[in-house]
Amino acid sequence: MRLRSLTTLLGLLLLFVGTTSAQEWKDLQVLPRNISKADLKTIMKAQSKALGVDCDFCHQMPTPEKETAKKKTARTMMRMVNDINAKYLLAVQSKTTCATCHRGKAKPDEVAK
Ligand code: HEC
Ligand code: HEC
Repeated sequence: MRLRSLTTLLGLLLLFVGTTSAQEWKDLQVLPRNISKADLKTIMKAQSKALGVDCDFCHQMPTPEKETAKKKTARTMMRMVNDINAKYLLAVQSKTTCATCHRGKAKPDEVAK
């Protein structure tokens, strides 16, 4: 009897830990897999704003984990931005973001020649 209630308690504890621990994202390849819901939301909102688009420009809502062509491009862009910052801009205490080039547009304007 005593052992049984102990196992029940342990089971409940595991269930609690399971539901309150880091969000289980389904397909993060660039961002940290244990990123919090709040941090992911901030990043997604910033990307949307930088490109002047809604979530469904890149995602097939309500399944944001699904692969899309735009999502694939966005991943390449995220890696590019990470590389530029780490390899070059850190040394001059600066950084680039999606907005640096996109400035509210899905396709950045070219500077007139
Ligand atoms: C410019 C494209 C783009 C826009 C706009 C965008 N996302 Fe994303 N989103 C991505 C990419 C790319 C990933 C995957 C990142 C990775 O692989 O680390 C992702 C991942 C996610 C995930 C995680 C899915 C999983 O379980 O793997 C969620 C949730 C999400 N986005 C929600 C949103 C919401 C909500 C918005 C609107 C506020 C939004 N996204 C706007 C590109 C975008
Ligand atoms: C160095 C400049 C630069 C930066 C920084 C940049 N992009 Fe881009 N992005 C481009 C260019 C150039 C294109 C191609 C536009 C075209 O096809 O004419 C593009 C295209 C895209 C597209 C495809 C748009 C479409 O209509 O098909 C997505 C999505 C995208 N970028 C997401 C991002 C995200 C997310 C970030 C930040 C993580 C980012 N970009 C940062 C220059 C940049």
